[in-house]
Amino acid sequence: SHIRSSYTDACSFYGRHTPRELAETYGTPLYVYNENILRQRCRELKGLSAHPGFGVNYSVKANANPALLKVARQEGLVVDAMSPGELHMDELAGFTPKEILYISNNNSAAELQNAMVKGLLVSVDSLSQLDLLGSLNPGGKVMVRFNPGIGAGHHAKVITAGKATKFGVTPDKLDDVLALLKRHNLTLAGINQHIGSLFMEPDGYLNAATVLLHLAERLPAATLATLEVIDFGGGFGIPYHKYDNETRLDMADLGARLHALISDWAAQTGYQGRFLVEPGRYVAAECGVLLGRVHAVKNNGDRRYVGTDLGFNVLVRPAMYDSFHDFEIYEAPGACARDALPQTIVGNICESGDILAKDRTLPALHEGDVLGVLDAGAYGFTMGSNYNMRRRPAEVLIQSDGTARLIRRRENLEDLARCLLD
Ligand code: LLP
Repeated sequence: SHIRSSYTDACSFYGRHTPRELAETYGTPLYVYNENILRQRCRELKGLSAHPGFGVNYSVKANANPALLKVARQEGLVVDAMSPGELHMDELAGFTPKEILYISNNNSAAELQNAMVKGLLVSVDSLSQLDLLGSLNPGGKVMVRFNPGIGAGHHAKVITAGKATKFGVTPDKLDDVLALLKRHNLTLAGINQHIGSLFMEPDGYLNAATVLLHLAERLPAATLATLEVIDFGGGFGIPYHKYDNETRLDMADLGARLHALISDWAAQTGYQGRFLVEPGRYVAAECGVLLGRVHAVKNNGDRRYVGTDLGFNVLVRPAMYDSFHDFEIYEAPGACARDALPQTIVGNICESGDILAKDRTLPALHEGDVLGVLDAGAYGFTMGSNYNMRRRPAEVLIQSDGTARLIRRRENLEDLARCLLD
């Protein structure tokens, strides 16, 4: 056991391995995922409602590694795609067109066409894109993303509904939507929304879901009759403060209320289609830990700086949103007990904003320690970059039998030069 590893110990996160051994074998930075935890999260979400039309649409922007997507598919989830690249990952994982929703935002005609040619249902989120889609695919099907006017989220940058965001068609434009559907002879096959990311209390989500259902009730009967999908969006929060025992989102409560809402509504309206939730973080965050190494420790002024290989090219959330991630410390064998003190954990990128945690009180970190950044499975690798010409990390999956499988190799220098032309 290590200085601080009770969280991953309790869930046998590293299976038959130790984090130091994984760091040694595969190098750092390294994303490590646990298959059992991923499956558990998928099952909790599937269990939210037993309504026959209820489904979980995993938003793969959180983590699009096909090895994880295959697990999600085995667990009965469907997926979204926001870009040709995400669509490609979905396809590599074996999802069929019926199992992928293309939730677009400001797409080119070519992107929309690409998704439609493949037989995907495409969601557009402006009148302008609805008009474009209709001209590309007259007589076809379409989904429209509405903005329910209620936003929520852990940071202004992740609130995706309400007046101050770029997303969705506001409900007052419903008549214009209907007119465009008619002009292009389009069938409205679905409506969707996404109010924002990381709620820990169900009320806002359920209120927004109710608003979307009220909007569906305003549709002409013939239009409501063709609706196949109502997608309430994602945003399901996870407790990032693992060592403070932060309370989890009450999935039983959320599930009971969501189930009642959709079952009653379906009974009342005769709706036979699907109801989807569209979580990203909830599926992928907790199954991932990011491993890094401490390379240098120093005091600048009053501050103790712990220098690691975990720059914001590897995990941008703290730098971008001031997000909190908890840490574990896996020290070399034989290290002695350490006092806790405030430390600022930084990466190896040439910017002073390259900070993972500021003045965080933790047992004193030393050179050679391996650090585990918890809950890094969502918006970790996918938001990574090659800034400072750093190579993107490898990814390892701890499979259900406890063995490790490399599911993405670390980039090499040729990868960095691959697209260059003379
Ligand atoms: N559906 C749509 C249309 C979305 O835009 C998003 C996230 C989701 C579903 C999934 O949201 P989730 O369940 O993961 O909250 N990078 C930020 C989060 C940005 C989310 C953007 N959209 C972060 O690291 O916190």
